[in-house]
Amino acid sequence: MSADAFDELDPAPRLLMGPGPINADPRVLRAMGAQLLGQFDPQFRGYMKQTAELFRGVFQTANPRTLMIDGTARAGIEAALVSLIEPGDRVLVPVFGRFGHLKAEIARRAGADVRTIETEWGTVFTAECLQEAVREHRPKLVALSHGDTSTTMAQPLAEIGRICRAHDALVCVDATATLGGMDLPVDLWELDIVSAGLQKCLGGPSGIAPLTLNQRAEMRILRRRHTEQGLRAPDAVDGEGPIIGSNYFDLAMVMDYWSDQALNHHTEATTMLYGARECARILLKEGLAKAFARHALTDSAMQSGIDAMGLRVFGDRRHKMANVTGVVIPEGVDGEKVRRALLAHFNIEIGTSFGPLHGRIWRIGAMGYNARADAVLATLGALEAVLAAEGVRLPRGAAVDAALARYRSAGS
Ligand SMILES: Cc1ncc(COP(=O)(O)O)c(C=O)c1O
Repeated sequence: MSADAFDELDPAPRLLMGPGPINADPRVLRAMGAQLLGQFDPQFRGYMKQTAELFRGVFQTANPRTLMIDGTARAGIEAALVSLIEPGDRVLVPVFGRFGHLKAEIARRAGADVRTIETEWGTVFTAECLQEAVREHRPKLVALSHGDTSTTMAQPLAEIGRICRAHDALVCVDATATLGGMDLPVDLWELDIVSAGLQKCLGGPSGIAPLTLNQRAEMRILRRRHTEQGLRAPDAVDGEGPIIGSNYFDLAMVMDYWSDQALNHHTEATTMLYGARECARILLKEGLAKAFARHALTDSAMQSGIDAMGLRVFGDRRHKMANVTGVVIPEGVDGEKVRRALLAHFNIEIGTSFGPLHGRIWRIGAMGYNARADAVLATLGALEAVLAAEGVRLPRGAAVDAALARYRSAGS
């Protein structure tokens, strides 16, 4: 055993300006320090109900089936896909970045006949293109991201629900990277099942996946209800559909666990539930419209600073996420060396990238608790200093000045 394994935990005071995780709101960390309760304690059941109620506000939905999946954001995606997809079902995945590929992979593992359409990284699909693909492939389910942090693009989703209903398909949206930072009115846009994580715009740690589903999705899942042997009532009747291929992610059972029936399933991750409740409480107390405006202003200040430095923002700016900015690494600059210097000298973390963008862009996030002027200004100033030290010729002070001017023009 190494000697430092016995040292007290003392993480460096980093400013996390990557694509997530970001620094958690201190109020969330405090809530997570509260003492544990048993999951069937009436007070804890009350907290579960409040958490569901608060997340109905966050998702802008009246769905009674709004609940938490224990696990990181992909646990929510996996629960949705494994519970909805019956082996052989056709699933369409529009891919505009790494997380489209993730959904295609999970769907394949669930036995789906997966069809993908792809667009160049840095672009999104038009509604017409999505409609055409749904018409051609006739899927039972369409699964796609709202924002894909790998490319920093946000797919417009106002039409997808209507398109899917017209073709009798369900739509499953991965809102991990945008929930709380960009508008996503689940009911208005007729989205059937939507999941997220806490570690981006919601200002919490990863470890729980808020999820909401409507009656159309619920009906499809209940067809497959097979309650665990040791728990089932003698008169329990199974659904006629095939059993869901995962016990942990069986949404039929998780819905029963979250319902007033409180049918036992997993041992609740109490501390994560406290954290989720606090994330939603803080967001709704601020107000969704204000939180979206804060992210939009932060984004605009960050882009102004990057432009003023003479760097290039990656991708189609009209469809850029409000909380992550891709910055093209200047010719001749070692992107990893810059990231290491930011961490070593400024305690600031920015993101690298994947796949075709690896080594080509940095990803700078400003979201949730970190969607603040001081975090943006510190990051721009530090990046400028590091690039100057690397010999990049840029107008000194221009980035911070431009971002500050943007904040001043917005009256803040
Ligand atoms: C759009 C999107 N989906 C899914 C994930 C996966 O989330 P997790 O790492 O919490 O499982 C991420 C993580 O960055 C993401 O950005």
